[in-house]
Amino acid sequence: MNNLKDKKILLIICGGVAAYKSLEVIRLLKKKGVIIKTIITKSGAKFVTPLSISSLSKSKVYQDLFDNENEAEMDHISLSRWADLILIAPATANTISKLANGNSDDLASTVALASNKKIFIAPAMNVRMWDHQSTKQNTAKLKTYNYKLIGPEIGDMACGEYGEGKMSEPIKIVDELENYFKSLKKNNRLKAIVTAGPTNEYIDPVRFITNKSSGKQGYEIAKSLSNKGFDTTLISGPTNLEINDNIRLIKVETAEEMFQITLKNLPADVAIFSAAVSDYKVKNIYKEKIKKQDNLNLELEKNVDILNYISNHNSLRPKLVIGFAAETKNLEKYATQKLVEKNCDWIVANDVSNKKIGFDSDFNEVSIFYKNNISEKLKYKSKFEISDEITEKIINHLN
Ligand code: CTP
Repeated sequence: MNNLKDKKILLIICGGVAAYKSLEVIRLLKKKGVIIKTIITKSGAKFVTPLSISSLSKSKVYQDLFDNENEAEMDHISLSRWADLILIAPATANTISKLANGNSDDLASTVALASNKKIFIAPAMNVRMWDHQSTKQNTAKLKTYNYKLIGPEIGDMACGEYGEGKMSEPIKIVDELENYFKSLKKNNRLKAIVTAGPTNEYIDPVRFITNKSSGKQGYEIAKSLSNKGFDTTLISGPTNLEINDNIRLIKVETAEEMFQITLKNLPADVAIFSAAVSDYKVKNIYKEKIKKQDNLNLELEKNVDILNYISNHNSLRPKLVIGFAAETKNLEKYATQKLVEKNCDWIVANDVSNKKIGFDSDFNEVSIFYKNNISEKLKYKSKFEISDEITEKIINHLN
């Protein structure tokens, strides 16, 4: 089964003796039916010519960031969006450093920085450069940014030295890319449940207790999972949002309904609990509308904690359980507490005291707390982009 057919790959060739191997990468990818576009850096063009690349790839080679002709045909943002995947081979120590530090002074680094796709890098450099502490730190950083490293390998180097730093062989690189697409395809066998929106806990037929929540982040996550092939069920409290037909949307009102529907839709491979579930419900709901009175005492009782219940029942627990925490202070403390108390694998937390993000906004800024005191911040961006990043992390985790 050829998993590369008709895939769109943007190959970035940097400067290094190993650049000649990228021609073989192009040849093998073309043989598999891949559609290739190539960027070559200034130093890359000293090792292989744009003419040999375009002859093999049967497409244009992009070189300059501020080239009128290129930008008119396909600007650097469109180029990064066009690709299903970006491959940087060979990746030099300089390019790795630029990517790790967010520099974008040429077309290659700008496209990589602007990309929302998976980026594979095949480093190639002298053994001392590869072993250098700064390169080690840069590659470690890139891994946390979701870059995937292929190689390098140990062997004789062009400079005469021996050690780790050789670019992986083209066949190995192509195999890695093929495996990546194969695992993506596997996603459509994976089942995801997302809870979203608020719940309404009725006091009487016309009044209820609720939480402030637009449901946008949960809906975006459901969309993103579905776009990446997951069989997705969205269990939503009352919202004004719409969702596409690929997603099984089940509308509920109360926490109890959300709980029952969630149970009914298990098992799942991943469950994302983004709903703002009301912690309390009214013990005895009035059957008739309550008339105005001087004192009204409502007796409340705790709602079931859906996340807590499911994550603490082994027979129900999905492989990956992700909780949310919206806090107005002590974000890290409360999020890490919830991570432990609710037995989550990850907690996605945001500070809702900031009016520009979170509630009702299309933008968000979140921190993800993992086990073992590890956390990372997804800086201010659209809820769509945040969701895509969370989905990528889910895919990496499950695969
Ligand atoms: N949650 C849930 N069921 C509940 C309450 C919360 O599934 N009855 C889930 C939310 O969907 C979220 C996580 O638990 O993923 C944290 O919710 P949050 O309201 O922040 O936490 P609480 O446990 O209610 O704590 P507190 O209100 O004291 O912050």
